[in-house]
Formats: sequence, C-alpha cells, structure tokens
Amino acid sequence: MQHSPNNVVNVDAQAPQSEAIDRAAVILRSGGLVAFPTETVYGLGAHALDPAAVRKIFAAKDRPGWDPLIVHVNSVAMALSLAEAIPALFDQLATTFWPGPLTLVVNKAGCVPDEVTAGRATVALRMPRHPVATALLAAAQLPIAAPSANRFGRPSPTCAGHVCEDLGDRVDLILDAGPTPLGVESTVLDLTQSPPAILRPGGVSHEALTAVLGHVSIAGSVADAVAAQGLAAPGMTLKHYAPRTAIELFDGAPEDVARQLQARCEQLRQSGRKFGVLNNQIDSDHFARTLFAQLREFDAAGVAVILCVLPPPAGIGLAVRDRLKRAAGRGDQS
Ligand code: TXA
Ligand code: MG
Repeated sequence: MQHSPNNVVNVDAQAPQSEAIDRAAVILRSGGLVAFPTETVYGLGAHALDPAAVRKIFAAKDRPGWDPLIVHVNSVAMALSLAEAIPALFDQLATTFWPGPLTLVVNKAGCVPDEVTAGRATVALRMPRHPVATALLAAAQLPIAAPSANRFGRPSPTCAGHVCEDLGDRVDLILDAGPTPLGVESTVLDLTQSPPAILRPGGVSHEALTAVLGHVSIAGSVADAVAAQGLAAPGMTLKHYAPRTAIELFDGAPEDVARQLQARCEQLRQSGRKFGVLNNQIDSDHFARTLFAQLREFDAAGVAVILCVLPPPAGIGLAVRDRLKRAAGRGDQS
C-alpha cells in the first residue's frame, strides 16, 4: 500500500502518542480534515460546528449532500448540548452502550449546522471507544462529524491503507493505528420513533438492544425506505458498500447452501472465469472484521464475481448480512 509520507502518521492503538493527537486536534480546530480509527471503521472527521469544515467532508468523499453525518462526542454532556427534547431512553442507552458502536438519532439543537444533518431536524450521535478516537476528542475539545473515510459507495475502510486508496491527499492527516477491531459500522438507532428503530444494524446487536429496551423494531427493506422517500433512513441507498465486482448471495440451510455453492463454483471454473468466495458461517465476528478488506482485495484481484454465503442473522451476523445485501444491490435487512 502506498502511504503518502506527508499525511499519514502511525499511532499506537492503545496509547496514542500525544504529538500525533495534538497535531490532528490543531487541524480539526482550524477547519481541516483528519481520518482516524474508531472501534468500527476509520472515520473522516471535521469540526462538527464549522459548516465550511463539514462541507469539505462531502467534497472529499464525493458524498451527496442528502446523506447526513454522525457526530462523535466524548461525553454525555457534549451529546446533550447537540440535542433537544432528549427522549427518556437516551440516558439508559448511553449508560449501557457508550462508549461503543451505538449511534443514537435524536432531535437536534439549534447549534448543529444543516450541513451535518442534511437539513434534517434530527442528529445522529455516538461516543466511540477506540483509544485514538477518544484521545482525539479529548484533545480537540469539540464534537467531530465523521462518516466512514471511504469514497462514497465504496466499502468502509478498516485500515489506513483503505483510506489512502480512496481519499489520498484529500485529507490533511490520517492517523494510522492498524486495523479496526470490529470491522463493520455502528448500529444506528432512531430514538425519535416509538418503539426505537434500528435504521442500520451494526456493532451493537439487536439482541443486546432488545435486552435493554424490550422491543426494538428493525427498519424495513430498502424498497420500503425508498417508497417512503428516504424519510426513515437516508443511508439505505440500494447500492452501498459496494465493491466494483458483481456479488452473488447464498442463503439458507447449510447443506443446501453448500450444494448450491459447489455447483456454482464448478460452473464458473468451467467457464474459465475468475471468482472469489466469502464463506464464514462459523465465526461472524471474524467475518465482520475481515469483510470490507476482503471485498477490496477481490476488487483489486480483478475477479469477475464474488460468491458470498450469508451468516445467520444473529449478533453481528445481522450487520454482515445487511452490508452484503447492499453490496449486492439488494437491500432488506434480515
Ligand atoms: O461506525 C460508524 O458509525 C462510522 C464511524 C466512523 O463512526 N461512521 C459511519 O458513518 O458509518 P456513515 O456516514 O458512513 O454512516 C452514517 C449513517 C448513514 O447511513 C446516515 O444516513 C445515517 O447514519 N444517519 C446520519 N444522521 C442521521 C439522521 N439524522 N437520521 C437518520 N440517519 C442518519
Ligand atoms: Mg459510510
């Protein structure tokens, strides 16, 4: 991987060096862009209360203006300063799951620029737990707006090399702390609906949320979201997290899937087409951690098609299924 020496700095993932963190904090405070690791994926950060800085995120990613950003905070007090009419469940969820991979959608306070929320009345908030993200928030002393640090529509970056690949010198500084521990993005939970609704499954499982909240709905299929004109979930674009290569999905009882997969592999071998296989039904955590890197590797290898066996829809498996279905251009979240 070609790291441009000027804008990539190595930092220790557990005890990040303060010089690097301070340099990044200065950039953020002066309206620049910093890519940094979180426990889920790398984020592309900017000062969340500086509209010009936030616009740079959209430009760097080629992200359409209608897709709102997550704001990262390092305290519940900072979160509350960005929100209004805080729902009763907010405290309980923050206490249980923050810092961690849970994003809470609440009504926004007046200080949050329209650039961050794409003109919406709500804002998505999350307190990350990766030591580098935590240190950066503490040093910068500001809320950081940060989407995943990939070019729009590409798989999310799980290492600094992916960020370089997609954004190169469009970002002022990249903090490289190695691969991210979870590998898929945070769970986005809409608290403005009752019961709360998962808009995007992610690092905090449906089961874990249900244990705390009793009932949590899962937002319907992409088709439904599109039919509702994206009002429920702006991120549910049909083709998302997409590698360049075509994807074929295999789902169902393990014996059936094994038979179908074998038949398809044989067919592709005979036709002389190069293909990749993603099959990890045993360990969904590992599947999540390696998913985006593998999609990028198959792209780079120039395979004609990627055959993916969906993991069971339990725990983080639900998030892996969601990303694979979106990558394949199909969107329900089961
Ligand atoms: O793990 C993560 O969440 C990573 C790291 C960097 O924190 N961030 C991330 O951001 O995945 P992004 O922008 O790639 O995805 C944010 C998702 C999008 O689907 C977006 O539409 C949704 O959150 N979102 C943001 N603000 C929202 C809002 N006000 N209402 C509903 N959905 C919102
Ligand atoms: Mg993203």
